[in-house]
Amino acid sequence: STPLLYLCLLLVPCLLLLEEAHAAHHGGISLRSQHMALLHWKATLANPPLQMSSWEENTSPCNWTGIMCTAVRHGRRMPWVVTNISLPDAGIHGQLGELNFSALPFLAYLDLHNNNLHGKIPANISSLSSLSFLDLRFNHLKGKIPVELGGLQSLTRLGLSFNRLTGHIPASLGNLTILTDLLIHQTMVSGPIPEEIGRLVNLQTLQLSNSTLRGLIPKVIGNLTQLNALALFGNQLSGPIPQELGRLVRLQILQLNSNAFSGPIAISITNLTKMNTLFLYINQITGSIPLEQ
Ligand SMILES: *[C@@H]1O[C@H](CO)[C@@H](O)[C@H](O)[C@H]1NC(C)=O
Ligand SMILES: *[C@@H]1O[C@H](CO)[C@@H](O)[C@H](O)[C@H]1NC(C)=O
Ligand SMILES: *[C@@H]1O[C@H](CO)[C@@H](O)[C@H](O)[C@H]1NC(C)=O
Ligand SMILES: *[C@@H]1O[C@H](CO)[C@@H](O)[C@H](O)[C@H]1NC(C)=O
Ligand SMILES: *[C@@H]1O[C@H](CO)[C@@H](O)[C@H](O)[C@H]1NC(C)=O
Ligand SMILES: *[C@@H]1O[C@H](CO)[C@@H](O)[C@H](O)[C@H]1NC(C)=O
Ligand SMILES: *[C@@H]1O[C@H](CO)[C@@H](O)[C@H](O)[C@H]1NC(C)=O
Ligand SMILES: *[C@@H]1O[C@H](CO)[C@@H](O)[C@H](O)[C@H]1NC(C)=O
Repeated sequence: STPLLYLCLLLVPCLLLLEEAHAAHHGGISLRSQHMALLHWKATLANPPLQMSSWEENTSPCNWTGIMCTAVRHGRRMPWVVTNISLPDAGIHGQLGELNFSALPFLAYLDLHNNNLHGKIPANISSLSSLSFLDLRFNHLKGKIPVELGGLQSLTRLGLSFNRLTGHIPASLGNLTILTDLLIHQTMVSGPIPEEIGRLVNLQTLQLSNSTLRGLIPKVIGNLTQLNALALFGNQLSGPIPQELGRLVRLQILQLNSNAFSGPIAISITNLTKMNTLFLYINQITGSIPLEQ
């Protein structure tokens, strides 16, 4: 579909054709199958919350609390498809694995933060190929961060903080090159910060704090020049604080405290003129703070 893609650069209406091709690829778009998938998920929840009382067999899911639809062109029709699920703070007690992701090919926005989701993040979440926003913070998710999340290349925000996730941070997250926010604070992830993090050049907020990460800060972190907040505190990171941090001239918040960093503070830190919060306590840093600026 490369010629089609070229045309689309010239003609905005062509985008609708692309959407149609996308729909065809997913075996058609029936609101009915999206409806069924959502109702099935509700049926698996321990005690469906009040917010979900509008989720019923005989009403359109586009009218349900927490659901948003968008009309997409499909042949001569403009069917509605589910694009948003937004039910934060709803007391949802259940598993993500019960939500049939393959029935939701147009889902762009999934916000389930601050619920009681348990079990694993299923690998097949990667079938949500349109997903740009995924917020699962403040739940009870356990197991590894699936490598397959690296396939969700439209993601701009990935929030996994405050869960019981274990294992390493997968290198595949380095494929999420349009991410602006990567939030993996207060989990049980371990191992090193992957070098591939240096590919996330659009990141503005990176939180990998309060977990059990070890090893050095990769020098490639100096490539993340859009960063305005970097939180690596509360881990077992060690070695020197790399000079390359001096390239992050937009940084306002830098929290490296409560690790095992050693050596002097890099002089390049005086480059960070926007910085208003710098936490370095509880490390083995020697020498004095460079006081140039
Ligand atoms: C949504 O609800 C409104 C009013 O409550 C109703 O008029 C409309 O027909 C409903 N739409 C669908 C698709 O069910
Ligand atoms: C996705 O994975 C979960 C957990 O592994 C499984 O229970 C579910 O049936 C899978 N769903 C689909 C649509 O393949
Ligand atoms: C999930 O949805 C797809 C697409 O509608 C369907 O083909 C499949 O049978 C569903 N899977 C389950 C386990 O219901
Ligand atoms: C719906 O999703 C879009 C992105 O796909 C997002 O911009 C918008 O804020 C979402 N709306 C709601 C009400 O969640
Ligand atoms: C993502 O990144 C990994 C490791 O960096 C790579 O092996 C993989 O092929 C990439 N592609 C996708 C779609 O995940
Ligand atoms: C980080 O963890 C410590 C110890 O468990 C806790 O006291 C602190 O509140 C946490 N910080 C944040 C910002 O969650
Ligand atoms: C990323 O950083 C490394 C080492 O700091 C450097 O060699 C490389 O050229 C950088 N890549 C980009 C795309 O800026
Ligand atoms: C300081 O910032 C400038 C960009 O404003 C950059 O070119 C330079 O490499 C930085 N210096 C250090 C020591 O990182």
